[in-house]
Amino acid sequence: PAPGWAITADVVVVGSGVAGLTAALRCEAAGLDTVVVTKARLDDGSTRWAQGGIAAALGEGDTPEQHRDDTLVAGAGLCDEDAVRLLVTEGPDAVRRLIDTGARFDESSEGELELTREGGHHRRRIAHAGGDATGAEISRALVEAVRARGLRTVENALVLDLLTDADGRTAGVTLHVMGEGRHDGVGAVHAPAVVLATGGMGQVFSATTNPSVSTGDGVALALRAGAEVSDLEFVQFHPTVLFLGPEAEGQQPLVSEAVRGEGAHLVDADGVRFMTGQHELGELAPRDIVAKGIMRRMREQGTEHMYLDARHFGAQMWEQRFPTILAACRAHGIDPVTEPVPVAPAAHYASGGVRTDDHGRTTVPGLYACGEVACTGVHGANRLASNSLLEGLVYAERIAADIAEVRDAGGLPARAAQPVAHPEQPAHPLLAPEARFAIQRIMTNGAGVLRSAASLDAAAAALDRLDTDARDALDENGKTAEPGVDSWETTNLLYVARVLVAAARLREETRGCHWREDHAERDDTDWRRHIVVRLNTDRA
Ligand code: SIN
Repeated sequence: PAPGWAITADVVVVGSGVAGLTAALRCEAAGLDTVVVTKARLDDGSTRWAQGGIAAALGEGDTPEQHRDDTLVAGAGLCDEDAVRLLVTEGPDAVRRLIDTGARFDESSEGELELTREGGHHRRRIAHAGGDATGAEISRALVEAVRARGLRTVENALVLDLLTDADGRTAGVTLHVMGEGRHDGVGAVHAPAVVLATGGMGQVFSATTNPSVSTGDGVALALRAGAEVSDLEFVQFHPTVLFLGPEAEGQQPLVSEAVRGEGAHLVDADGVRFMTGQHELGELAPRDIVAKGIMRRMREQGTEHMYLDARHFGAQMWEQRFPTILAACRAHGIDPVTEPVPVAPAAHYASGGVRTDDHGRTTVPGLYACGEVACTGVHGANRLASNSLLEGLVYAERIAADIAEVRDAGGLPARAAQPVAHPEQPAHPLLAPEARFAIQRIMTNGAGVLRSAASLDAAAAALDRLDTDARDALDENGKTAEPGVDSWETTNLLYVARVLVAAARLREETRGCHWREDHAERDDTDWRRHIVVRLNTDRA
């Protein structure tokens, strides 16, 4: 659709989690005219839901090298070591700057940061806020800072496509905005630098910890724009999500790894601690190992969930340390103070995404990505717990520094006079919103925690049918779904689901959070490499 309105800026940041708002604040501080656009309200993304915390070598005796080692082990041979080095060495100061921006972390009575443990960490190095409401506090502080600095923001703005200039350089984005006064309907922000910070794609599965806005919009945009996307097969399933029944769909309540970090036990239907002896870290093994341990024991016992037992915490500790989780459990009729909590794995985090370099640059000039939408290389095949908020912070700062440097060198083109939509033609007929549930079920059944060639083939065929049906309807009746946020989101979900399944079919091994029943071993001879996808944009 042709844009009905346009605003201009030096930088448009798409998304308002820790990555987006940090990028925006740092760009503004560098004197760049910056606009933030976000799909719902400023604090509606995934950051707000983060519980456990933010990992950095801040504790006595801890070092960036130890943090690096734990990150590399979790990443199962596929981390980019330079990217990890930047993350762990710049991380501690980035957290201190976040504190300077206004985020208040939990402290001891002596004023020291309180640090907890999570899966895969050999040390206490995870700073938290409000007990288990770390993301909410970070979001509050950043939103307040953005408002205090008077940054321009456009809410309820779903990003559609990248705009480029005649030389193929980034020139802005098109947006579909709902009910925001002057900027209502389809419009555009014209800017020579675009920072994608749109978060993840958990909604591609039926049950996920992600909010409903996590529909892979940034990865879909990047694919349509011809950018490279990498590692999409590595979807992390969080081991301990509150189990609300086999039919539960949409966002599910997380039970943070920090609960295990503080001493909770994972037990099976007979009350036996089944992770003991499976890994030197037991229940605090890296997340993929715990998720697999749970799934195996569920199969052996023919049950749909395991239990997290932290009755020994007592009421006071539950109330002070984990108030959010306690309230969520009680809202569903489970009292963790007196009974074990039923838990099962659910989709949690996209370790892959839009491929970037150490400055957050994608393969399209002027297009940057940070946070969950990006694949910087720090997560490899399986993200280490609580590295994601840190990655959002560190790489957002690196992006702002890069854009400012480009500007200082005179390399930020004047705002493009005649941006053209990219792709020039609508890439795909819009899907009806109802298809969202079909996609989620196909993905959960075929490309969930445990995958095989047969399950992935079935998923690919079913996704292809949705695609063909939409194209046939367009050819035969000129009909497509009504344009709107729901139909665009559903179309984006199909885009990313198809690429994810294609990558998962190719990767015939088990590594990190990619678990193939039919290729149960890690294969370092053939598969210590990445699957990088770039769509042929002539035919997106
Ligand atoms: C959690 O609190 O368990 C989630 C932490 C993370 O995903 O990094």
